[in-house]
Amino acid sequence: VGGVVDCRGQNLASVPSGLPPHSQTLMLDANPLKTLWNHSLQPYPLLETLSLQRCHLERVGRRAFGMQRRLLSLGLADNRLSADHRETAAALRTLPGLRTLDLSGNSLTEDMAALMLRNLPALEAVSLARNAVMRLDESVFEGLQRLRELDLQSNYIFEIEAGAFDGLPALSNLNLAYNNLPCVVDFSLTQLRFLNVSYNSLEWFLAARAEVAFELEVLDLSHNQLLFFPLLPQCSKLHTLLLRDNNMGFYRDLYNTSSPREMVAQFLLVDGNVTNVTTVDLWEEFASSDLSAVRFLDMSQNQFHHLPDGFLKKIPFLSHLNLNQNCLVRLHIREREPPGVLTELDLSHNQLVELRLAPGLAGCLENLRLFNLSSNQLLGVPAGLFASATNITTIDLSHNRISLCPRPAPPDPTEAPNCVDFRNLASLRSLSLEGCGLRALGDYSFQGTALTHLDLSSNWGILNGSLRPLQDVAPTLQVLSLRNVGLSSGFRDLEFSGFSNLRDLDLSGNSLTSFPRFRGSLALRTLDLRRNALTALPQRAASEPLLLGLHAIYLSQNPYDCCGVEGWGSLEHLKTVADLAMVTCNLSSRVIRVTELPRGKFQDCKWGQVDTGLLYLVLILPSCLTLLVAGTVIFLTFKRPLLQVIKDRCHWSSTY
Ligand SMILES: *[C@@H]1O[C@H](CO)[C@@H](O)[C@H](O)[C@H]1NC(C)=O
Ligand SMILES: *[C@@H]1O[C@H](CO)[C@@H](O)[C@H](O)[C@H]1NC(C)=O
Ligand SMILES: *[C@@H]1O[C@H](CO)[C@@H](O)[C@H](O)[C@H]1NC(C)=O
Ligand SMILES: *[C@@H]1O[C@H](CO)[C@@H](O)[C@H](O)[C@H]1NC(C)=O
Ligand SMILES: *[C@@H]1O[C@H](CO)[C@@H](O)[C@H](O)[C@H]1NC(C)=O
Ligand SMILES: *[C@@H]1O[C@H](CO)[C@@H](O)[C@H](O)[C@H]1NC(C)=O
Ligand SMILES: *[C@@H]1O[C@H](CO)[C@@H](O)[C@H](O)[C@H]1NC(C)=O
Ligand SMILES: *[C@@H]1O[C@H](CO)[C@@H](O)[C@H](O)[C@H]1NC(C)=O
Repeated sequence: VGGVVDCRGQNLASVPSGLPPHSQTLMLDANPLKTLWNHSLQPYPLLETLSLQRCHLERVGRRAFGMQRRLLSLGLADNRLSADHRETAAALRTLPGLRTLDLSGNSLTEDMAALMLRNLPALEAVSLARNAVMRLDESVFEGLQRLRELDLQSNYIFEIEAGAFDGLPALSNLNLAYNNLPCVVDFSLTQLRFLNVSYNSLEWFLAARAEVAFELEVLDLSHNQLLFFPLLPQCSKLHTLLLRDNNMGFYRDLYNTSSPREMVAQFLLVDGNVTNVTTVDLWEEFASSDLSAVRFLDMSQNQFHHLPDGFLKKIPFLSHLNLNQNCLVRLHIREREPPGVLTELDLSHNQLVELRLAPGLAGCLENLRLFNLSSNQLLGVPAGLFASATNITTIDLSHNRISLCPRPAPPDPTEAPNCVDFRNLASLRSLSLEGCGLRALGDYSFQGTALTHLDLSSNWGILNGSLRPLQDVAPTLQVLSLRNVGLSSGFRDLEFSGFSNLRDLDLSGNSLTSFPRFRGSLALRTLDLRRNALTALPQRAASEPLLLGLHAIYLSQNPYDCCGVEGWGSLEHLKTVADLAMVTCNLSSRVIRVTELPRGKFQDCKWGQVDTGLLYLVLILPSCLTLLVAGTVIFLTFKRPLLQVIKDRCHWSSTY
């Protein structure tokens, strides 16, 4: 079609010869070719793109591409080209116009790669991912003047000599993820825009201390063993800095500034017999790095105990800051710290006991949309913190110990001293308060908000017998989670008719003994009733309008009575019971999967349900009758002799 020939996975043992001669793209992936013979591509001189992935190629004839003057892109991923790399290299050399070459997954060493890349001056993108490269020096990438993209992921590189990339003046995109690099020092690839060194063993990242401008925009150093914040270029265009999962901290506070001489690290840079010494003042930490263009900063999964004064001020355009899974204890919110353009702040899984807000600070978080404070040790947040975030849509305060304003009088002395106020946060849409130890809510905790997502799970007793605390948000709520909150069917008011937009409702882990009632028109799509105390389905479940409209209902882990599940047969046809295979019911003392209940079980249950006294009567009646008949027969048979014997023994007077 349109010059593209797709022959993938056709079990071809050689290149077919009868294809349209004007084909420009030929896809031969996943055919067991083993050898690409000399001249086998001769009929297709106009090919621009050729893909030979997963073809078990061990040999590529040195004249195989003899006619492919126009070939721009060649995909040879996942073959066995290391077997005869010399001939393959010779074949590639006949393609001086090639721009894109994929050699990933071929067990190539650096010497083989060097040989294959020789004399391909037009190359712009090369992938050597998933090979066996261990060291890089300036001989490997010689003469690739136009190379922009180089993928070296998933090799065994442990050493890169100074100057290894000197022959690549156009290089802008370098991927070294999943290698064994112990450090990057004297990083001086000023032309590079994208550098990925994630999943190595880096303990240091140190850019050359020269006042030259770097083009670097994206730097991924995640999943390494960095101890210190990376020493970044002094002048760069860095906008995305990824430092997730390292061992970094800021240490200046731990040491005394009275002994500054001990606080330097010296790097010996050895090149041949020349050794240069670079001295770095570690306690300056981030001071000499240029962070002025950074917008996205991920420092999650590290060891940060605090953020030094002025750190966030150095990042004036920061819009996303991820500090999740660190050891922060306090965070002080001050003028321009964090900067006013911040839209997402994730502080979840720290040890925060206090958020402090500088007095008189208004509108400091005015662009913040998402604030994640989940899993800390907060007892409250400063009054006015959320109110100053006038664009906030999502707050996650789950797993802290807080209480909400207004508090139902009288306040409980064991509760946190100050309450958190969500009232009148008009922009707020999503709020998670799971596991916050909340007591019974007052009636107006969410007044003035238009929440669509609310999670109140694992706050036992929070609703104290009534849905009235949710009345203010009932019309807007779409997703409501009331898992493990101690709802029971004693709830007279467990009536969701006012929740006209509710789509997902989670009522699992409560003690409901009967189905909740849903009157009126509901938009409900999923309903979770797992882990409750339901013993029966609603009568005529299959015709219930609620169940008909649902996309999924979860019903397992309830002690249903097998004899009370009349609706099952029809529910199975509905296909809405998402966990049908796990729904069980009790029959006497046995637990049975309802899908294994025999058809017509209902009839059997009639027997089971009948009073056992009646059952025994029915069993005993025939025996009794038999005995009675037998007795009568015996009596009639032996009537006369028996009487005579008695009469003889007792000498009764003979009156018959
Ligand atoms: C291709 O031709 C050369 C000679 O021109 C020969 O040495 C080589 O073995 C051939 N390779 C294949 C795979 O046929
Ligand atoms: C860096 O490479 C890893 C591994 O391939 C990948 O998961 C990650 O997304 C890359 N980083 C960026 C910023 O693309
Ligand atoms: C730092 O220095 C001050 C006075 O110079 C001293 O009181 C304090 O104990 C020192 N702290 C540490 C951690 O060495
Ligand atoms: C050492 O320093 C000299 C002069 O600053 C410089 O020319 C040379 O490239 C440096 N060598 C290394 C290995 O950094
Ligand atoms: C360093 O090596 C070069 C040759 O590689 C030699 O000419 C020079 O004398 C050596 N310098 C020292 C100080 O050994
Ligand atoms: C907040 O962070 C926790 C843990 O990192 C995560 O599970 C949760 O989904 C996040 N909440 C939001 C609203 O993104
Ligand atoms: C719970 O409800 C009962 C009666 O509905 C009321 O007497 C009691 O004060 C409520 N408890 C709280 C903490 O509001
Ligand atoms: C039914 O199962 C529940 C939970 O396993 C159990 O508590 C209850 O005693 C069972 N009832 C009968 C009649 O076996």
